[in-house]
Amino acid sequence: MRMYDLITKKKRGEPLAAEEIRAMVEGFTKGEIPDYQMAAMLMAICFRSMTEEEMRDLTLAMAASGDEVDLSALGSATVDKHSTGGVGDKTTLITCPIVAAAGGRIAKMSGRGLGHTGGTVDKLESIPGLSTTLSREDFFAVVEKTGLSLIGQSGELAPADKKLYALRDVTATVDSIPLIAASIMSKKLAAGSAAILLDVKTGSGAFMKTLADAMELARAMVAIGEGAGRKTAAIITDMDVPLGAAVGNALEVAEAMDVLQGKGPADLREVSLALAADMLRLIGRGDFAECQRLAAEAIENGSAFRTFSAMVEAQGGDAASLADPTKLPQAAFCRKVRAERDGFIVHMDAERIGQVACLLGAGRETKESAIDHAAGIRLVKKTGDAVKAGEAIAELHANDESLLAPAASRYLSALAIEDAPCEKRPLIFARVTKESFPKTGAAQDRRPVMSGALLEEVRAAMAQGAKEGDGADG
Ligand code: URA
Repeated sequence: MRMYDLITKKKRGEPLAAEEIRAMVEGFTKGEIPDYQMAAMLMAICFRSMTEEEMRDLTLAMAASGDEVDLSALGSATVDKHSTGGVGDKTTLITCPIVAAAGGRIAKMSGRGLGHTGGTVDKLESIPGLSTTLSREDFFAVVEKTGLSLIGQSGELAPADKKLYALRDVTATVDSIPLIAASIMSKKLAAGSAAILLDVKTGSGAFMKTLADAMELARAMVAIGEGAGRKTAAIITDMDVPLGAAVGNALEVAEAMDVLQGKGPADLREVSLALAADMLRLIGRGDFAECQRLAAEAIENGSAFRTFSAMVEAQGGDAASLADPTKLPQAAFCRKVRAERDGFIVHMDAERIGQVACLLGAGRETKESAIDHAAGIRLVKKTGDAVKAGEAIAELHANDESLLAPAASRYLSALAIEDAPCEKRPLIFARVTKESFPKTGAAQDRRPVMSGALLEEVRAAMAQGAKEGDGADG
């Protein structure tokens, strides 16, 4: 195999064979294929795309490039979840204990936040004493004992992805759906769970800004997961507005604990329950309605909160801080942001709101930056709400007082307030399983998500897909 020939083949739009893809990934990971040839291949993939089989083969080759976790000792109900990232997305802290309390097994490695989106490990580390670095034995022991362990990435999962991503980043080849899908799924496959639920976010705070792109990515990842023998599904959820009312690590932990105790914001509860129900469905706990019932019950009877508390204790954390948020890190300074006029909030730029949280200290600009677990934002009013001039619409929390004034003016510039209210967006746009791929051209549509016509089109496509054979979706 000559890399030159493979580049030529892809440039002409011909599919690569599994052994060609394997040799290419191995050669690149070992340093035998130079960056300039791989960069040409990546660009050819951007223009020519990949078939479902090529995406699966690329993903499997990338997953096999490093450690592959074997979770079979934990039984067949292991289930993982992945979010494509968002602002205020603390659903892992809610869905995973729900699923564990309802019989699932969750041995999950999570990431840290980078840029405007938060990371689960950062949120967990705001719980005093909690360790996210466990040995393999301790990781398995916590899952055996509590049904759930959430830790940071250990070992080297999919090193080919790390190298490829670095090259994509500097060659304008990040935004290729086959490459994004292979990148995400290679790490999920290597992490070893039997089932995988993907939360693909769309909107102003998401990586996928349009619903059409989110659908296409979801379909690609579901096809890869199923092709690799894992039960895989995706939900497309809204990230045009931050999820819940808290943005920032300790604030988000407190809010997630509220939801686990039957309180908390309705949007966060709805998305978390839908994700949990789909995770339970993937591991065969019943149809969607039954799984929704199981998920709601795990909150109502307190078992999900007890499961999370048990995990925190088993990982050395102070479980008392979960019921008493004053024991979580608290910022020294708080400033209210006030509306400048009467009207309705018709748009919140979630990405810019995430950047404001970073500015306050909640996120990191580079992998090496330190973060302030107490810093963040509490959203008092959100898209669709009526506001009066002078009324508090958000609270900013920081340990450095000088950050508050610039953050307040940036926060205001991330909002649009108008005289008339706006159309309400759904929280959950679509569920994608291998049987329910929409059959219309919606995936080719690149219009922004705000279009009501596009929503109708996708809803119709999903309804059609369901009629044509997705019996299990319920
Ligand atoms: N997240 C990933 O892990 N990989 C990508 O390519 C994009 C987002």
